[in-house]
Amino acid sequence: MTAPVPPAAAGGLAAQDAPATRDATATPTGTGVAVPRVAIVGANGHGRWHRRTVAPLHAAGRLQLVALVDVRPIEDEPAAPVPAEATVHTDHREMLAATRPDVVIVCTPPHTHLPIALDALAAGADLLLEKPPVLSTAEHRTLAGALTATGRACQVGFQALGSAALAQLSAAVGQGRLGTVTGIGTVAAWQRPDGYFARSPWAGRRTLHGRPVLDGALVNPLAHAVMQCLAVAETVTGAPVRPSEIELERYRVRPIEVDDTAALRIVVAGGPPIVVAVTLAGEDFVAGEVIVTGTAGRAVLEYPTDRLLLPGDPQPRVVPGRRGLLENLLAHRADPAGTPLIAPLARTAPFTAVLEQVQRAPEPTMLGGDLVTVTGSGPERAVTVRGINAVLRRAAEQGALLSELAVPWAVPPVRTALAAQDD
Ligand SMILES: NC(=O)c1ccc[n+]([C@@H]2O[C@H](COP(=O)([O-])OP(=O)(O)OC[C@H]3O[C@@H](n4cnc5c(N)ncnc54)[C@H](O)[C@@H]3O)[C@@H](O)[C@H]2O)c1
Repeated sequence: MTAPVPPAAAGGLAAQDAPATRDATATPTGTGVAVPRVAIVGANGHGRWHRRTVAPLHAAGRLQLVALVDVRPIEDEPAAPVPAEATVHTDHREMLAATRPDVVIVCTPPHTHLPIALDALAAGADLLLEKPPVLSTAEHRTLAGALTATGRACQVGFQALGSAALAQLSAAVGQGRLGTVTGIGTVAAWQRPDGYFARSPWAGRRTLHGRPVLDGALVNPLAHAVMQCLAVAETVTGAPVRPSEIELERYRVRPIEVDDTAALRIVVAGGPPIVVAVTLAGEDFVAGEVIVTGTAGRAVLEYPTDRLLLPGDPQPRVVPGRRGLLENLLAHRADPAGTPLIAPLARTAPFTAVLEQVQRAPEPTMLGGDLVTVTGSGPERAVTVRGINAVLRRAAEQGALLSELAVPWAVPPVRTALAAQDD
């Protein structure tokens, strides 16, 4: 199935944009095209999803999985067995030195992303870096600087950006089918029991060992909702989104350090405001809807399922097709000018700006008493905020924060003007 890793002296052909230092280990295919050598750092947890994505590409000879790294023993993944030729490591630096991969997938906890990413770039690899890519605008600049200095590429793990449904929505917005876009909102209501917040050392935490980690509804499970809205705003403004003000209400229903319920407004320079209204303590399940309101119509994209409703449509329809982030990165490596990255680091700068404000905000307000309903026990204990689904939907539809909707338990938002602060 897999060609053995050639010795360093074998001198295989490198991809077009590969630096000379990597030529020695690129795997030749016999067709004159080098097979990119891929490593995964953080192979358990969500890393298993990456292993499942990599497995068919490895089997098809489109890449070679050369190494897995995890500080814990590698868990079995029946759908993606570790190839016999791949090596297993507990230290990413040792792996980089030993295997010299062309592409490194970084799927470790957020606070480890920057140092691992910088090491991988210094070793000449391109990156598929999980979201959130970094934890501050300063880290974002550091990583962007390293990309420029090394000439490498960084794709960020916002996989919903590769959706054909988002592309159709963007096209409809661009063609003016909604008229002038006046607001972008998103609503999601998930339910996560107490066990979810014990899943890993950084779960539910704002810092770990003195370093920011930042779990929470807005920047972890529902980060895709935020990023999809930013992507639509990009289409509206025709330029990278520049948040000028961020207003934030954060709530929690258990003693965690981060939000499990939140409302956020991003005021976009030259574009419509974005309101994000989400919870992990929801009543009914709402997967995640991006609602785009214009003077001539309204569109709704259920981003996890790629269901799209455009003006004039009788009902939502599934728009199939997603361009995979890894495949896109491989295509970009082969043809940087002809195949742009779907989720380059630069595109995620406004997400990092939002994340930084979440990190800086005061602790979320605790909701309890009659406001919540508790069911189950132990890790299955679930807490629901009464009436939360209706409130979040109103917020997303009306572009309002919860405090502006006369929700009795809502607290005034923390407002931060960004232009003066971050320029
Ligand atoms: N794109 C998505 O939809 C999506 C979904 C889930 C998670 N994620 C992201 O993926 C990343 C990992 O999330 P997770 O839930 O799998 O976290 P996790 O805490 O389960 O960690 C993943 C793995 O990394 C390992 N690890 C930790 N530190 C390491 C290090 N220094 N070197 C090597 N391995 C190390 C852990 O042992 C674990 O096996 C996070 O950034 C998360 O936000 C993205």
